[in-house]
Amino acid sequence: MQVTFKIWRQEGPNDKGAMRAYEVDGLTEDMSFLEALDHLNELLVLKDEKVIAFEYDCREGICGQCGVFINGRAHGPHDHMTTCQLHMRSFKDGDTIIVEPWRAASFPVIKDLIVDRSAFDRIIEQGAFISAKTGTAPEANAIPVPKEVSDRAMDAAACIGCGACVATCKNSSAALFTSAKINHLNGLPQGRAEEHKRVAEMTYRMEIEGFGSCTFTGACEVECPEGISIINIAEMNARVTKSKVFG
Ligand code: FES
Repeated sequence: MQVTFKIWRQEGPNDKGAMRAYEVDGLTEDMSFLEALDHLNELLVLKDEKVIAFEYDCREGICGQCGVFINGRAHGPHDHMTTCQLHMRSFKDGDTIIVEPWRAASFPVIKDLIVDRSAFDRIIEQGAFISAKTGTAPEANAIPVPKEVSDRAMDAAACIGCGACVATCKNSSAALFTSAKINHLNGLPQGRAEEHKRVAEMTYRMEIEGFGSCTFTGACEVECPEGISIINIAEMNARVTKSKVFG
């Protein structure tokens, strides 16, 4: 299998950057997309050229590190899939594949396909935790949680923080990410102690990090590899109002 990769190359945050084309042969349709990039990097090493910088950790859809735009879509052509779960069988022999980093002011490019997503970490630091007494873990059934409540919390907790929602949103909004992190704790009894403080501080941080406002286009939900629902954003907005009254 032979394809042409057109890949964004940028030496560092202050470099202008440009697309560069690479014709790559010797690929198979069973290779993952990241293995195809590995193959290209091996060819670049043999030619004594600089390898393409891209991020990954788990390569199994868990860590959220591998996000890139592929042919204009976050994580490539399929819904609800990370880049590392994408395989070359999704492309045809002779295809041209355009690969770019996330584009958002709050995610500046560090190098090539790697962006700085530490703005997400700073939002999490503001409240994505609960206060609990230290010691042995409490008996799991000591705090009853209705099934529908725990299901909703688990659905929100599935967010892997990849940033596809921000990169896809025309406003570069982080509302889907932030709402998932708030709702998975605020919906549970264990998260109640800090519920109003959590909402106020995480949403405030989201704004000062420069993410845009949500206008409910729903693009984030479509591109989210975990299928996090935009209902979470509506819930977060209701919690913001509640935190202003009771917080
Ligand atoms: S490398 Fe971990 S989600 Fe893709």
